[in-house]
Amino acid sequence: MCGIAGYAGSKQVTPVLIGSLKRMEYRGYDSAGIAIVNNGSIAVLKDSGRVDRIAEKISNRMTGGNLGIAHTRWATHGEVSQDNAHPHTSCNSEVAVVHNGIIENFQELVATLRAEGHHFRSQTDSEVIAHLLERSYQRLADPVKALQEALRELIGSYALVVVFHDRPDLMLGARKDAPLIVGVGNGENFIASDILAFIDHTDRVIFLEELEMVTVTSQSVELMKLDGTRIEREITHVAWEAADVSKEEFAHHTLKEIHEQTRSLRTALLQDEKSLDSFVSNIKNAKNLYITSCGSSFNIGLLLKHLLTKLCKIPAQAFVSSESDEYIDLMDRDTVVIAISQSGETADLLKAVSDARGRGAKVLSIVNSVGSTLSRKSSVNLYLNCGPEVGVAATKSFTSQLVLVYEVIFRIAGMHSKRNALRDVSSAIEQIFMQEEKIRSIAGVLKLFNDVYFIGRGPHYPIALEGALKLKELSYIHAEGMAAGELKHGTLALIDKGTPAVVINPHDETFNDTLSNASEMRARGATVVGISSINNELYDYWIPIPETDPFLQPILEVLPLQLLAYYTALERHNDPDHPRNLAKSVTVK
Ligand code: F6R
Repeated sequence: MCGIAGYAGSKQVTPVLIGSLKRMEYRGYDSAGIAIVNNGSIAVLKDSGRVDRIAEKISNRMTGGNLGIAHTRWATHGEVSQDNAHPHTSCNSEVAVVHNGIIENFQELVATLRAEGHHFRSQTDSEVIAHLLERSYQRLADPVKALQEALRELIGSYALVVVFHDRPDLMLGARKDAPLIVGVGNGENFIASDILAFIDHTDRVIFLEELEMVTVTSQSVELMKLDGTRIEREITHVAWEAADVSKEEFAHHTLKEIHEQTRSLRTALLQDEKSLDSFVSNIKNAKNLYITSCGSSFNIGLLLKHLLTKLCKIPAQAFVSSESDEYIDLMDRDTVVIAISQSGETADLLKAVSDARGRGAKVLSIVNSVGSTLSRKSSVNLYLNCGPEVGVAATKSFTSQLVLVYEVIFRIAGMHSKRNALRDVSSAIEQIFMQEEKIRSIAGVLKLFNDVYFIGRGPHYPIALEGALKLKELSYIHAEGMAAGELKHGTLALIDKGTPAVVINPHDETFNDTLSNASEMRARGATVVGISSINNELYDYWIPIPETDPFLQPILEVLPLQLLAYYTALERHNDPDHPRNLAKSVTVK
């Protein structure tokens, strides 16, 4: 969700924080702002709108100062407006705060503070933190004690960074149920919700754990529990580089990340053997097996469930993390939960995982972000190794998750020869990129419609769901992914003259049945887009996919769907990197 960042060093703070804002924009892009401590006061500039526009204003007007905080917002409480943008300051502007999370008791706190004479400028839950802090700081004159006192009043989740008007070299951070990371530089230090915020300055990081706080100056980083107990923690080197987050020659991060899949499918296979063995043996020995995730990662969860059940004959339940309540009471010490996530910070998923651990279940995860909350809560991690994903829509992370799912499944099922085919699949992807112009022209057709249907059977059903999800989020066209056989049980009524239907129909055991479903749609006037290695007269448009090992077709067939969504977004003049109303890494429930 929102991105937060802070800098303490000797450089001019404005350009540093603008760089952070730009790299964090994918976490929220309805407003942004910065606060700088200089000459005994805090200067704030914030506004609604995209970072580029706000950054220009900030660069022109905010000079001086070596310490500051910044925020990109994804609105939860209060409309998108200048007042509701962060940073928030207290009545006398003696403290400023940037916050990611939700303060659940903010209404009661606001009422109390108003009664004491505090004036609120925004409708956000976050502003209350600034007022609580100012009240404590005026009384205690100690930043750490003041923050501890303020935090004791808060119910909810937070990752926050605060600065004080009379402390030009000190910022404090704290976390509860939202990520916060310190970047350790030379003569400069950073705090942020996300490594990308400071990756072009340092790759040395310290991850804050739950209910920890940190004091950061240009020369020091001191970690403590919320009660003040000091903590020593090793610095971690992260493998990501600044180049990973540039668009290079591509028009958008999304397109770059789609193209990166030729490489990322290979790096997904670079796993620690011990972790793989442990992942596999935990699944084999589980009495109850659950899979949980959200959004695109949930579509992978459905595919994993399908393969475990069909190939490995291991029953498993897959549920979206926000619906975990239904299953938690069934979990116990013999339960294994597989959690799948790109960010490792999705709030719904972390709640499901915490609850499962509370019941004694063991958590195995498939995750991209090393050091993320999920990775630290899991007994075994398989890492996607696909580098940072900046485009809001999951693309390369989806196929890397898929590769790991197959790696695990083939080991469980003893299908070792298939693992070579998995190694070869990345070369087949090149052939899909040769279809890019054709896919773009099909996007020119889809853009004219209000509804698009995606169908597939067996392992291709989750891919149909993923195709529909991608199209919805990037093009804003309503789309529905369906098990192909379900169509005739109701949805067929919606097929009308021209309605686009994307039929995922590789040459495997589902082929003939899915073709019949395509025929049923065509008979009702649908414009059929076939995704298959074999052309058919039923297809108005055919996107060929290379014929590989039948098990691995889902990896190939999702690529044209990603490109279709990307180009439809362009055709409709949408920004595919920043779909409206969305943000990467959903850290609120
Ligand atoms: C869709 C998309 C989202 C995420 C979902 C889970 O393109 O990106 O649906 O898949 O929010 O996020 P992670 O995988 O980070 O837990």
